[in-house]
Amino acid sequence: MHLFSSMNELEAKILIDDLCSQIEKHNYNYYTLSNPSISDLEFDQLLNRLIDLEKQFPHLQNSNSPTLKVGGSITKDFETVKHKYPMLSLGNTYNEADLRDFDDRIKKAIGNSFEYVCELKFDGLAISLSYKNGKLIRAVTRGDGTQGDDVTNNVKTIKSIPHQLKGNDYPNSFEIRGEVFMHKKTFEKLNAEYRKELEDKEVYTETQILERLYKNPRNFASGTLKMQDSREVAKRPLDAFLYFLYADNKVSETHFESLKLAESWGFQVSDHYKLCSNIDDVLAFIKYYETARHDLSYEIDGIVIKVNNYLQQEDLGFTAKNPRWAISYKYKAATAVTKLEKVTYQVGRTGAITPVANLTPVQLAGTTVKRASLYNADELERLDLHENDTVFVEKGGEIIPKIVGVDTEKRLADVQKIIYQTHCPECNTELIRKEGEAIHYCPNASHCPPQIIGAMEHFVSRKAMNIDSLGGETVAAFYKIGLIKTYADLYDLKYEQILNLSIETSDDLDDSKSKKRSIKEKSALNIIEGIATSKAVPFERVLFGLGIRMVGETVAKKLAKHFQNIDNIMTATKEQIADIYEIGDKIAEHLTQFFADKDNVQMIEKLKVHGLKLAIEEEVGVERSNKLEGKTFLVSGTFTMSRDDLKKLIEVNGGRNIAGVSKNLNYLIAGDKMGPEKLKKATDLNITIISEQDFLNMIN
Ligand code: IVH
Repeated sequence: MHLFSSMNELEAKILIDDLCSQIEKHNYNYYTLSNPSISDLEFDQLLNRLIDLEKQFPHLQNSNSPTLKVGGSITKDFETVKHKYPMLSLGNTYNEADLRDFDDRIKKAIGNSFEYVCELKFDGLAISLSYKNGKLIRAVTRGDGTQGDDVTNNVKTIKSIPHQLKGNDYPNSFEIRGEVFMHKKTFEKLNAEYRKELEDKEVYTETQILERLYKNPRNFASGTLKMQDSREVAKRPLDAFLYFLYADNKVSETHFESLKLAESWGFQVSDHYKLCSNIDDVLAFIKYYETARHDLSYEIDGIVIKVNNYLQQEDLGFTAKNPRWAISYKYKAATAVTKLEKVTYQVGRTGAITPVANLTPVQLAGTTVKRASLYNADELERLDLHENDTVFVEKGGEIIPKIVGVDTEKRLADVQKIIYQTHCPECNTELIRKEGEAIHYCPNASHCPPQIIGAMEHFVSRKAMNIDSLGGETVAAFYKIGLIKTYADLYDLKYEQILNLSIETSDDLDDSKSKKRSIKEKSALNIIEGIATSKAVPFERVLFGLGIRMVGETVAKKLAKHFQNIDNIMTATKEQIADIYEIGDKIAEHLTQFFADKDNVQMIEKLKVHGLKLAIEEEVGVERSNKLEGKTFLVSGTFTMSRDDLKKLIEVNGGRNIAGVSKNLNYLIAGDKMGPEKLKKATDLNITIISEQDFLNMIN
């Protein structure tokens, strides 16, 4: 363990660690998510502060400090590579007549004897792969068509792209082109995780969150492929279909045969392509996929039609921008007509209000649509919605359907215009809309049910009290049946109260899908144990867990360090708080508002009574780490140091102490005179048993 000789050094160390983690986070937002959350200037200020501190305390520099990466991997741009064959785009058609014109032009040029290949038009990013002697040597984006970015390392993370080809009949050197994309399910999952991450920062308004989220799978795939750190790319699974082969010496006479060959060498070619002998077959293919496309796990935006024979392709040639031998047919966004039944208002966990159109169920793009988001009051105004209106619903690239228009001719006489509601549907508090914001909020954070539930979910979450045995749905259910009124009440819960309790889980978009389950013995025990062990969570995380607006992890750490305990924070004036470096007026306002509420003060008192850590326990010379993050320990027997010191060491290194031997236990630290029963149970459950020395080796 590192012992610091002076307070100054300790402060420097904390500040350095804090700056490192802030910069890492911003790098991640910038490079990985393509979504910076601070300006370049602010970023440079953070980095310069870190550089200064590291100059002053060179021995405190972290080995993976972001300052060491400047000029290295994170700031480097991709190499620009000129395409050997330009990457052209295709001409677009939108209807049968345009497509028949295309067919006529071809017939005029090459006669009637030719075939087409119809393929899906994948909605992703074009990529050009170069292979030499069967090895992938380079992957380049389309760029401006003549030159693109070398993204080889990123593309190598895509599992369906072979690094080494199969067989032996591939050309020594060739290029193959295709489309990189993200599956719809992956997109939804990653975007939901990203939303949670943004919400947890506690600094963004709902409008800002919506702006930052990825709009569709293509958007996400594009942000991913352009990331500088390919380890991050690997965390966001992409996929690829290949659709065009370029070799100096042709390996076959036709495009269709080339696709088959490419498949045999190990390339992923989509199953959905077809040889067509005339334009009517092409139109039938288009018609079929107009509906069938909704059952695909990825998005397509049309069909690509290519003349099959290479010599005929050559005869047809190119215009300045497009090949004359190929064209795309673009599908219109799927639209349905239905009736507005009513407008309801959802209250989010931060109090943000979303108006929702409840519709007469209608089939759209393969799913039944019952609701559409109306986003905000401006959107409601723009649509000029009236009761019982007939509306057009569309599903574009986005996953959630939206209302794109109203059929005013079908509007009934004497119907009322829909006026944005003035009060919260959950707690009846008057809604507010801040200057320059598109969203309304319910300001009643501490008494509005969805906001209370939101606060509880935040309280038990991993970065706060880390009560992982208690999912968000379970806390919500406890609240709904009146078992708890605030998160402080969790600490009053008894095993008998929750055993066999029936919990309702619901599907946000489909009420008919709600299910019931009951809490069995084992999970009841885990819940009670999880709540009890959370009492050891350090003060800064409790402070973060309280869910005070704008008090995210970093701010909570700063406040805890400055004020040392909750009483000092509660009695501090707004000015005293705002005076702290990097805290400012807004956060100070939220803090004083929170503690001005008597209910919140009572809640804190309750947490105190239950023994939660409401004061800092940092000892000079104790270095915190996350070496044991996610690991659970049970200390049993006697040791050279006291059991309490051992437990403390577990906590300061990010681990968790748990009370008994169960399958949730990762390590049993066995001392002298340990009970034989515990040892047997741990052995039976295959739990790793370690000595005091083994443990010390883990953290040093
Ligand atoms: S062939 C010269 N086939 O559409 C022909 N393109 O506007 C090159 N695309 O940039 C393209 N699916 O990103 C072809 N099956 C497919 C395609 C496809 C999607 C994209 C590609 C290209 C754009 C053309």
